[in-house]
Amino acid sequence: KKIPQFVNQLFIPPVYKPTIHKHKDKIVHKYTVKMCEFKQQVLPPGFPKTTVHGFEGLIKDPISKRSRIFRSSPGPTFEATRNISIQVQWINNLKNKHLFPVDPTLHWANPNGFPPPAPPFKAFPPGYAQAQSPIPSVVHMHGGETRSDFDGHPEAWFTHREKQKGAAFFTSRYTYLNSQQPTTLWYHDHTLGITRLNTASGLAGFYLIRDPKNKIEPLLPQGKFEIPMVIQDRTFNKDASLFFTNIGINSNVHPYWDPDFIGDTILVNGGVWPNLNVERRLYRIRILNGSNSRFYNLKLQNKKNKKEYAFHQIGSDGGFLRSAVKLKELLLAPAERADILVDFSKFDAGTKLIFTNDAIAPFPGGQPPNPNTTGKVMQFTVRGSKAFKFPKLPSKLNTIPKLIPDVPPKMFVLNVVQGDNGALQLLLNGQRFEDEVTEFPIVGSTVDWIFANPTKATHPIHIHLIQFHLISRQKFKSDAYLKAWIKINGSPPLDKPPTPLSVDSFLQGKLRKPDLNEQGWKDTIRVNPGEVTRFRLRFAPQDIPVSKTKPGKNFFQFNPSFGPGYVWHCHILDHEDNDMMRPFQVRKK
Ligand code: C2O
Ligand code: CU
Repeated sequence: KKIPQFVNQLFIPPVYKPTIHKHKDKIVHKYTVKMCEFKQQVLPPGFPKTTVHGFEGLIKDPISKRSRIFRSSPGPTFEATRNISIQVQWINNLKNKHLFPVDPTLHWANPNGFPPPAPPFKAFPPGYAQAQSPIPSVVHMHGGETRSDFDGHPEAWFTHREKQKGAAFFTSRYTYLNSQQPTTLWYHDHTLGITRLNTASGLAGFYLIRDPKNKIEPLLPQGKFEIPMVIQDRTFNKDASLFFTNIGINSNVHPYWDPDFIGDTILVNGGVWPNLNVERRLYRIRILNGSNSRFYNLKLQNKKNKKEYAFHQIGSDGGFLRSAVKLKELLLAPAERADILVDFSKFDAGTKLIFTNDAIAPFPGGQPPNPNTTGKVMQFTVRGSKAFKFPKLPSKLNTIPKLIPDVPPKMFVLNVVQGDNGALQLLLNGQRFEDEVTEFPIVGSTVDWIFANPTKATHPIHIHLIQFHLISRQKFKSDAYLKAWIKINGSPPLDKPPTPLSVDSFLQGKLRKPDLNEQGWKDTIRVNPGEVTRFRLRFAPQDIPVSKTKPGKNFFQFNPSFGPGYVWHCHILDHEDNDMMRPFQVRKK
């Protein structure tokens, strides 16, 4: 049965309500949040409900103003206030088996120590139920300056009642400091080797930081005119249950792992192809690409005459941009966010606008989306007779400091390990997740990480703990570089850290600045194929003045003596789950 579009109305996740505790002179906001399984109307009304995973906690009902327990997928939204830390007691209440098949040949959480089966993989291996249940989970707050014991390390997972725990588990009660700039963060599962499954089952939600002292926030649309919007692609079975690839393209090596999960249906905030009725005024929309692998290139198009309209981006992953950027299209890789303003006051009542998507999937070497299905994201229906003119924003929204490196740069190469039928895995510097730690950034230091990408895909690289800057992109002779690199280091996977090879003599063409809407704080950056991309990372809290940082200077949440350390990885979740992730540990000197 064909799934009708724009019948679902956009769901806006309600906001978690904390209980407020006073400890001496400190206020702490406490939350208890459960990961659980339930049925939700994901397909339009009239279709059966879909079993999903999501989050449950106390919320304030937006209409009755009463507190009550609520669950949804995506989960309710955290609204944190800058400099007020919150405490979250995470509870894993997932008692059934996974919704999707675990691939036990990957390096994964494996709570029962199920031995990786050997080929040939004809059916599910004997005893496979041991791999499917219980479900380990751990939540990471993406983009947060978080101490590493609260960061949701991939091996800090735990199962129902914390019966089984990963090697990096310290606690399930996390503190988030919220000392960074007001922005759109999100929380999602981060369990070793199954993040793609747990997130696609629905374990994700928004985490907004607001700053009462910020001068811009009060000038922006608020309340029902501020819309969080997470875009995800999914595929459904005939009975409305979620489908996930269970035939790996390298079925003789990884029976159920597919390098890119690409769904054939688009969800926004957990509902398929929704509509949102909007008034004739300005809206603030915080968009998150919460998909496993699919990129979106969004355009705002009049449904009737196909005319396209511009909108403005005011914020990136980690805060406001220097000034608003006018956009005709917006490209978002998995985990990237864009805080945008859309002016519906210029449209007549009754106008229908579509967010269209024309990003190739996988990006940029796959198929264009089907214009009738995955080429559409959601619809806005303009309503109301009187247009409300919104006051003009100041031209300067934020001060973005210039970071100055004070230690030598680091060189990384992205690798693909090729099998007969496609990628066996993708790696960073030819190394696997479990290989020895090679990155020990010094607290307070500023360093350039340079990525050479000779693969065919754009990999959105995400680094935990910090917000950082994109400096430049430049084309390079990627085949020649890779050949030279392999000559020195051998073919990946490597059994020892590679000897770095400078890209200098392989560079081609002009150095390109970041796009205007990337010239701010980022925590996930697109590293394109055939290009060298330079990030500038500072291992200090976001708002410490540049003059006050120097290598070796200590900052509380960057203290290396807390917890298991951090990770950085490709945010294509399917890549991340199969070793496109590496550890790092901050050091004092
Ligand atoms: Cu959004 Cu390491 O993750
Ligand atoms: Cu990747």
